[in-house]
Amino acid sequence: MSHTDPQPAGGEPLSNHLEWLEPQDVDLVFKPGPLDKLFASVVRTRRSTRAIAAASLEQVAQIVRETLKADFVGYGEKQGRRLKSVLSAGAIHPVKAVILRRDNRPIVYDDGRDLFLSVQVRDHSAYISFFQTCESVLPEAEGHWVALFADCRNVRRLYANHESLAWRDAGAVIQMMALMAEDHEMAFCPLGVLGGEIIKALLPETPDIIPVGVVALGKRAEG
Ligand SMILES: Cc1cc2nc3c(=O)[nH]c(=O)nc-3n(C[C@H](O)[C@H](O)[C@H](O)COP(=O)(O)O)c2cc1C
Repeated sequence: MSHTDPQPAGGEPLSNHLEWLEPQDVDLVFKPGPLDKLFASVVRTRRSTRAIAAASLEQVAQIVRETLKADFVGYGEKQGRRLKSVLSAGAIHPVKAVILRRDNRPIVYDDGRDLFLSVQVRDHSAYISFFQTCESVLPEAEGHWVALFADCRNVRRLYANHESLAWRDAGAVIQMMALMAEDHEMAFCPLGVLGGEIIKALLPETPDIIPVGVVALGKRAEG
């Protein structure tokens, strides 16, 4: 398995474009995050919470954004590279997120533009089936689901055995999101399912996009 530092592959730009249906920018206003928590206490107190109440879209989107926001987006020779709070093999960051709640339009985070997009569902039966799967795994979670998927185009181009890197990147994202949720005193739980139905529901069929997990995110339910 070759994990040498990749060379930029020629002058051709590395595309991050995905074919969302009817994407529309969503204006979200975020509150400043908590400043007074010790990192050590966040790390020690974090626990998966399965009884989850609905939080606002802004609260959920803030956790997604703080986890996946790029502090650096490369151009020229560094095209396709990003630096974030979460780590990633080769700074490619193939893992992307979409926020889902029944009866609401799916909300995708665009980490290149630091913007949320509302998109249209392509396949309604796959969409319903995604919710049924998640609800059967965590029946007490009433919050939002965040589906994680990897866009493998750039990582495959630069590395052998790229899927293994995408899986490990997904684990890093889940851990960082769990810590962000704890920092914001929100409820968070990963699901064992991959959430593949959501890719079928939202994007044209392609082997480039693989599902890498789902998490539940919301308010801590009372009691
Ligand atoms: C990849 C992954 C999948 C998980 N799937 C589930 C799941 O399907 N249902 C569930 O209740 N917890 C799930 N969890 C949460 C674990 O059960 C939990 O992290 C573990 O029990 C340790 O507890 P803690 O997170 O509270 O420290 C999952 C965790 C990970 C990392």
